[in-house]
Amino acid sequence: MSTIIEVSHVYKAFGGLSVLDDCSIKVEEGSITGMIGPNGAGKTTLFNIIAGNLPLDSGRVRFNGEDITNMPANELFHKGLLRTFQIAHEFSNMTALENLMMVPPRQLGENLFHTWFKHTEVRQQENDVRQRALEVIDFIGLSHVRNELAGNLSGGQKKLLELGRTMMADARVVLLDEIAAGVNRTLLGDLVANIERLNRERGYTFLVIEHDMDMIARLCDPVIVLAQGHVMMEGTIEEVRNNPQVIEAYFGAPTE
Ligand SMILES: Nc1ncnc2c1ncn2[C@@H]1O[C@H](COP(=O)(O)OP(=O)(O)OP(=O)(O)O)[C@@H](O)[C@H]1O
Ligand SMILES: [Mg+2]
Repeated sequence: MSTIIEVSHVYKAFGGLSVLDDCSIKVEEGSITGMIGPNGAGKTTLFNIIAGNLPLDSGRVRFNGEDITNMPANELFHKGLLRTFQIAHEFSNMTALENLMMVPPRQLGENLFHTWFKHTEVRQQENDVRQRALEVIDFIGLSHVRNELAGNLSGGQKKLLELGRTMMADARVVLLDEIAAGVNRTLLGDLVANIERLNRERGYTFLVIEHDMDMIARLCDPVIVLAQGHVMMEGTIEEVRNNPQVIEAYFGAPTE
């Protein structure tokens, strides 16, 4: 296996308060790597830095060997490194299918000249995008609500749609920040199954922040434990669960 994401010695402070402190992680290509840790450990901050949503103070981030430190999110998106976002407010009045069709393709049309002078090609492209969106919506099991407004979907269906958006972009690495929160058990099962399928069938690598230990146990190997901005340990879910230091950091008190 080869390393696809490498974070080396990253420091980040907010207003003089250290949030990431010499933080280093590696994510292997093709893995579904979990990330857990107490509230405020710095997990979301680390995601923001990797995905180009937040500058770091010092340290380096590499994607597939390339230095991507402080590279903007849209550039990373076109390289296939992306994170899911909640369906933005302005898209809630569009249908589920239209939301998928809105995702810009990874290989963006070279220039405007194309759009103005090559109408047939553009129409062909639109048909392709629609076809792709129909395939994606089938894959995520939302065909029956494809013409429903995104704003009317249930919480869990919205999460599935967010995952679907990453498929429109042909991602290589997807960062998931607490997508299980507030999702009922049935849809959670669908989400987990879709993540596994994307991993297996499309070769997606996932880095998953989650507080739901059952979900981490089902999906993730290895699991990285972040505490106070620093990696406390990395191992299988069993190793993590049996580590007294982790138990103390996570649950606040040692158990016998
Ligand atoms: N933009 C910001 N400005 C100031 N402080 C921030 C900012 N973003 C995060 N922090 C602080 O950084 C620390 C880490 O926050 P972060 O959101 O990364 O934690 P987390 O591990 O994702 O926690 P949780 O599990 O609760 O989501 C917190 O103390 C938080 O208050
Ligand atoms: Mg967080």
